[in-house]
Amino acid sequence: MLGHVLLAIPDARLRARLRRTLSQADVLVEHVDNPDELWSRLARTSADMLVAVRSAIPDPATATIGSLRGLPDSPEVVVLDRHSHAEDRAQLLAAGAFAVLDEALSSHALRDVVTAILARRRSETTGSLVARRALPEPRLDDFITSSPAMKTFMELVHRVVASDTSLLILGETGVGKEHLARAIHAESPRATGPFIAVNCGALAETLLESELFGHEAGAFTGATRTRRGSFEMAHKGVVFLDEIGELPQHLQVKLLHVLQRREIQRLGGEAAIGIDVRIMAATNRDIAVDVETKHFRPDLYYRLSVVTLSIPPLRERRDDIRVLVDSYLDYFRGHIRRNVTGTTAEALAALENYPWPGNVRELVNILERAMLLVTGDRIRVQDLPAAVRNSGGVPDEIPRPAANDPRSRALPAHVLNRTWRDARDTMLADFEYAYLSALLHETGGRINETARRAGIEPRSLFDKLKRHGLRKETFRPGRIDEP
Ligand SMILES: Nc1ncnc2c1ncn2[C@@H]1O[C@H](COP(=O)(O)OP(=O)(O)OP(=O)(O)O)[C@@H](O)[C@H]1O
Ligand SMILES: [Mg+2]
Repeated sequence: MLGHVLLAIPDARLRARLRRTLSQADVLVEHVDNPDELWSRLARTSADMLVAVRSAIPDPATATIGSLRGLPDSPEVVVLDRHSHAEDRAQLLAAGAFAVLDEALSSHALRDVVTAILARRRSETTGSLVARRALPEPRLDDFITSSPAMKTFMELVHRVVASDTSLLILGETGVGKEHLARAIHAESPRATGPFIAVNCGALAETLLESELFGHEAGAFTGATRTRRGSFEMAHKGVVFLDEIGELPQHLQVKLLHVLQRREIQRLGGEAAIGIDVRIMAATNRDIAVDVETKHFRPDLYYRLSVVTLSIPPLRERRDDIRVLVDSYLDYFRGHIRRNVTGTTAEALAALENYPWPGNVRELVNILERAMLLVTGDRIRVQDLPAAVRNSGGVPDEIPRPAANDPRSRALPAHVLNRTWRDARDTMLADFEYAYLSALLHETGGRINETARRAGIEPRSLFDKLKRHGLRKETFRPGRIDEP
């Protein structure tokens, strides 16, 4: 799908720069000269996104953006502003703008934002790998395997399933914290009630507050209607607070109040509303350290951590890898309709040896990718990314140097069995993975430094790391990953 972006940017130089960088990224760019033309143009075209300077958006901007988002294509809105006030920005975001960015941002950074938004839209509209994959409903049985570490862990889980106590779920990224929370909910007496997940790290502070507690009409500019927050919506069910370590201080106080009193107040509201929710929180940070460094309130921590469930990383329960591989291959077989019966012994050895910094999520992604790339009926070592391939196992086929030319010799032989597009995607994914892990290793996992050296924005570095299941913590000096 070709992305379609409309620019409302009077500055001809900025516009030309953007047009150039965006057209390299499979994006069709149009622009409107005259702000008055914007509306008729938007009504006529099927834009995925509007990138507009603040002054091109007629006031009241919040209403304008609201009506834009209501157009049939519901274009995303990115506002460029020079000196925006936090409040103005919050209102634009509350009205539905996807982002408010500094006009001085480099055109490359802007391109990264635009392509990320387009990628997300594509996945929503055409059903990408991720969207198509409605993964199986989490069940507690998913965690019951032969590995000793998990056996001990699950004994504790079973003792708390039926109770109403709050849970604090810890573990590295991708280990299955949310998977476990959903499984516990599904098998608890609250199973018929809702499970509402809120990511405390993903929203700006004011938005997060209204997301959690709701607001009354008129609580702030742009709050035209009363809105119920997550706690109200989750009544009789569960609120899952993901990335709890990112919860701003004043919301920590409010959450403590919810835990103590079982009631909330909407933003701008007077009345206390009684709620009956079970709270499950999760984080991949070392939250005890956040308590010591005063970033997290000890009183809230003690209340949340009465029952703490720490899911062991996948590399500490290697016996589970085989079980997970079997069950996901089974699952994808039905969903991707590839007749793959299993893996070769070498491929399984490589999968079992690899340290899985991105844990189960990384494993699932790699299996799905392999399922799509595989040409025979079994996944071979060469269907796995280089990092996994090189972690053990002997190649199923020796790469043959293509010619005497050293540049073409770098090409692994197996890509020649692929189409151009498949081969390019595999090589690119391998390259990104290798480049990012090597660079993170060099910088000791420091995000800003890594982004600076790579010449990309930290935000886009984050997205890439997430996509590849890489965690910065893994690269901190002095950390020992292999058992
Ligand atoms: N035991 C398991 N059985 C099957 N699938 C699992 C299991 N554990 C995790 N998964 C799958 O792995 C993926 C990652 O799990 P999940 O989103 O729960 O991780 P997380 O710990 O919340 O990660 P993050 O810290 O990055 O948010 C999901 O697709 C989930 O369904
Ligand atoms: Mg999660």
